Amino acid sequence: MNPWESQAMAHNFPSDPSPAVGKNQSTHSRLQSRQDPIIYPGLYAPSGVDIMTVLFSVFARPDPKIELGPVDCSAALTVSNLDLPGSPIIYANEAFAKLTGYTIKEVVGKNSQFLHSPQSKASSQSSLLDQQVAAIQQLDHAAAARDEIQLYITNYKKNGQKFTNLLSMIPIRLPDDETQYSVGFHVAAD
Ligand SMILES: Cc1cc2nc3c(=O)[nH]c(=O)nc-3n(C[C@H](O)[C@H](O)[C@H](O)COP(=O)(O)O)c2cc1C
Repeated sequence: MNPWESQAMAHNFPSDPSPAVGKNQSTHSRLQSRQDPIIYPGLYAPSGVDIMTVLFSVFARPDPKIELGPVDCSAALTVSNLDLPGSPIIYANEAFAKLTGYTIKEVVGKNSQFLHSPQSKASSQSSLLDQQVAAIQQLDHAAAARDEIQLYITNYKKNGQKFTNLLSMIPIRLPDDETQYSVGFHVAAD
């Protein structure tokens, strides 16, 4: 076993909040539904975004400057389309929804700048902290230069709670796709 495997095995997960299989719902029937032999494109991607290919493109990028370290499925992720006006989020995962309190539906189609201010307050330049203004400028420059960047930025959850977001923003291209995307990795660092 390599070091990360032993670390993974020793990890203390909080007790599983999901209810045990009910009396009327046998394990057998749950398994049966998973064993359906008809596999069709999109079965595992109802969002339409092939996140495996996105992550592969991140990890196989030619000139990495940021060390992301290991990434597991609990990582809060967004993918934005930099070629569309306003660089909207085209994909956000459940972990991002959990981190920010916004639903996936609420964030897809929006620029991530809704995180700069509490929901009730308009994100005017004057309402931003100096640290935010500096970070936003850095993000702007990095996005324009198609450069990757990692920084701390003060953000707000939907409920108004302030948090320090350790944001890594990585531009990628997907195979057979001219579109320029950017992948955001988000984690509360406080
Ligand atoms: C993939 C991606 C993820 C981003 N994630 C965040 C984020 O979590 N928090 C944040 O404050 N800004 C985030 N941004 C930056 C904002 O969306 C925005 O680009 C930046 O604040 C500059 O916006 P403006 O050029 O519209 O002023 C992200 C940008 C991209 C492309």
